[in-house]
Amino acid sequence: MSLASSKAEVMALVIACANQKGGVGKTTTTANLGATLAQMGKRILAIDMDAQANLTAHFGLERELESTVAGALRDREGELPVYRVEDDAGMVIDIVPASLELASVEFQLAAVIGRELRLRDRLERVRDNYDFVLIDTPPSLGLLTVNALVAADCVIIPTEARFFSLQGLYMLQETISEASALNPGIEILGVLLSKYDRRLREEKAVWQYLHERWGDRVFETEIGINSKILEAASAGVPVSAYTGGKKATTAYQLLAREVLDRVEAARL
Ligand SMILES: Nc1ncnc2c1ncn2[C@@H]1O[C@H](COP(=O)(O)OP(=O)(O)OP(=O)(O)O)[C@@H](O)[C@H]1O
Ligand SMILES: [Mg+2]
Repeated sequence: MSLASSKAEVMALVIACANQKGGVGKTTTTANLGATLAQMGKRILAIDMDAQANLTAHFGLERELESTVAGALRDREGELPVYRVEDDAGMVIDIVPASLELASVEFQLAAVIGRELRLRDRLERVRDNYDFVLIDTPPSLGLLTVNALVAADCVIIPTEARFFSLQGLYMLQETISEASALNPGIEILGVLLSKYDRRLREEKAVWQYLHERWGDRVFETEIGINSKILEAASAGVPVSAYTGGKKATTAYQLLAREVLDRVEAARL
């Protein structure tokens, strides 16, 4: 891999979490990986590119927001609105929130020249301030996901270990290839089993298949099914700040370490 080698140590590495299949853990991965990297002292910006605004809610920002990513993408001179979130333990993370308004942006931009480049362009002005920018994408391969893929240096693909989930990975790979016309350096950083239940026979079989098909691009770290992850999301906090979330916290720490190692290895 030649991951953003020219940008090493200078600008943030931009990571999109993408998979057009719904409910596979994109938002949960973005939120908890972002929070974990922030706890490790990295400067993190997390961008919500989904009109469901789940990432926004993950960080307790779903209250009345003055501006969201929708305006930044829609307006010709738009700028990303950045909200800072700090927790009691001293974690600091910047969030660009979304709202339902984002649903209409896809249509509003349909005939705009350079519509796929809007997020990359807006990000260019702030990425110097960060070590990592994480982008949460919606469950579709539409313009918002394409904007994320054009802005990103690399992609993390969270997936469930289900046969129905596997079919979608080919489509996503196709879209990533198409995005490379506008973003030639884009790489797949890894495929993440983000809701793994090793007790199920189907999941074990898919685990095997994934490893055969994707080899070492599957992250060694697996995020197991864990009710604390779901409960923490509902409470609007990262799982590390949630009572009983120690096991899941450790898993995300291992994932963060693996992400840092892969980025480091790719930059050599
Ligand atoms: N490891 C896990 N264990 C238990 N629940 C999980 C886990 N990961 C995610 N979840 C839960 O599964 C649901 C779907 O996860 P999430 O919202 O992250 O998926 P998504 O891919 O972002 O969905 P969408 O496609 O709708 O944006 C959420 O309720 C989330 O809290
Ligand atoms: Mg989501």
